[in-house]
Amino acid sequence: MKVKDLFLAAVITLAVAAGLMGVILLISDCDLFLWAAEHFGTSTASLAGQVVWVTGASGGIGEELAYVLAAAGSRLVLSARREQELNRVKQMCVDKYGIQPGDILVLPLDLQKFDTHQHAVDKVLKHFKQIDVLVNNAGRSQRALISETSLDVDKAMLDVNTLGPISLTKVVLPHMIARRSGHIVAVSSVVGRMGAPGLGSYAASKHALHGWYDTLRMEAFEDNIHVSMVCPGPIFSDALKHAFTGKVGKELGIDMKPGEHRMATDRCAQLIAIAIANQIDEAWISMQPELSYLYLNQYLPAVARRAAVRIGARRLHKIKQGETDLYS
Ligand SMILES: NC(=O)c1ccc[n+]([C@@H]2O[C@H](COP(=O)([O-])OP(=O)(O)OC[C@H]3O[C@@H](n4cnc5c(N)ncnc54)[C@H](OP(=O)(O)O)[C@@H]3O)[C@@H](O)[C@H]2O)c1
Repeated sequence: MKVKDLFLAAVITLAVAAGLMGVILLISDCDLFLWAAEHFGTSTASLAGQVVWVTGASGGIGEELAYVLAAAGSRLVLSARREQELNRVKQMCVDKYGIQPGDILVLPLDLQKFDTHQHAVDKVLKHFKQIDVLVNNAGRSQRALISETSLDVDKAMLDVNTLGPISLTKVVLPHMIARRSGHIVAVSSVVGRMGAPGLGSYAASKHALHGWYDTLRMEAFEDNIHVSMVCPGPIFSDALKHAFTGKVGKELGIDMKPGEHRMATDRCAQLIAIAIANQIDEAWISMQPELSYLYLNQYLPAVARRAAVRIGARRLHKIKQGETDLYS
C-alpha cells in the first residue's frame, strides 16, 4: 500500500470515528465517557456492600440515587435536614429493594452547621466502621439577577453549596487516607461549567467546587482516593421549590411541571451511579442542547462565550418577564 493510500485510509477512519461520536453525542443524554461506561464499563452491581453516604437524600436526585444504590446492594447513610423524609426514603429502600434496616443509617445533617460534621462522621464510623463513597449531592439552586441579589444570599449559597461539601469532605478524608481507599463525589451542575443569567451565586458556588475537588483529586491520588465531579443539566426535582431568590429567607416556591425540558430524576440517578461505579473524573448528564453546549464550551470556549452572550440575552429577557423554566 502506498503512503498516499495509507493517509487516505487514516483520514477516512478518523472521519467515520468522528461522525460516529457525533451521532452518539446527539442521541445520548450524557458525555461520551459516561455513555461508554454505561454500555461497556463496570456495572453498578460493583457497589454492592460498599458504604455510600448520600447527602441531600430526602428528596430529588439524592432520593433516587439512594434507590439505585439500594437496588445495587450498597449499604447507605442518608443525610439531609428533614429526618421524616429520610425515614420515608429508608422505608422505601427496605420495602422495595429488600435492603436490611441495619444497612441504612438515617443521619440528619445540616450542611451549613460545619461544627456538627465531625460528630456525623463519628456516628457513621461507629455504625459501619468504614465509608467507601461520600456523595456530596445536597444543594440549592437560585433564581435572581445579580443586580437584585443581596450579598447575604451569595454567602448563604456558598455556605450550603460550597463550604458545606468541603467541610464534610475534610472530616471524611482522614478516615479514607488511613484506609488508603475511598471515593469522593461532588454534584456540581452544567452551571458549574458555564454561567447563566439568573444563577450568579449558584454558578459561583458550583464553579468553586471544581477548583477545590480537582485539586483534591491530584493531592489524594497517591492515597488511592478517587474524586468524581458530576454535572447535571435540567433535572426534575424540588430544586425550584427551595431555590434561593435575591433575598435571604425567601424561597422561590415553584413546582416543576411535567412536560418541562428536564431529564427524569431516576435516569439522572442511574447515570450518577454508573459514574461512581466507573470512577469517572467528571461526568456530564444532560439532554440537548445543554450537552452539546458543554462540549462547545470545553473545546471552543471563545465561540461558546460569544454564543452565551446572545443566548444569555434571550434568557435574561425571559427572566425579566417572570419565566422560571430555565436551568436549575
Ligand atoms: N435539579 C436540577 O435541575 C439540577 C441540575 C444541576 C445540578 N443539580 C444539583 O443536584 C443536587 C440535588 O438537587 P435536587 O435537584 O435534587 O434538589 P432538591 O430536590 O431540592 O434536593 C435538594 C436536597 O438537598 C438537601 N439540602 C438542602 N439544603 C441543605 C442543607 N443546608 N443541609 C443538608 N441538606 C440540604 C435537601 O434536603 P433537606 O431540605 O431535607 O435538608 C434535599 O434533600 C444539588 O446539588 C443541585 O445543585 C440539580
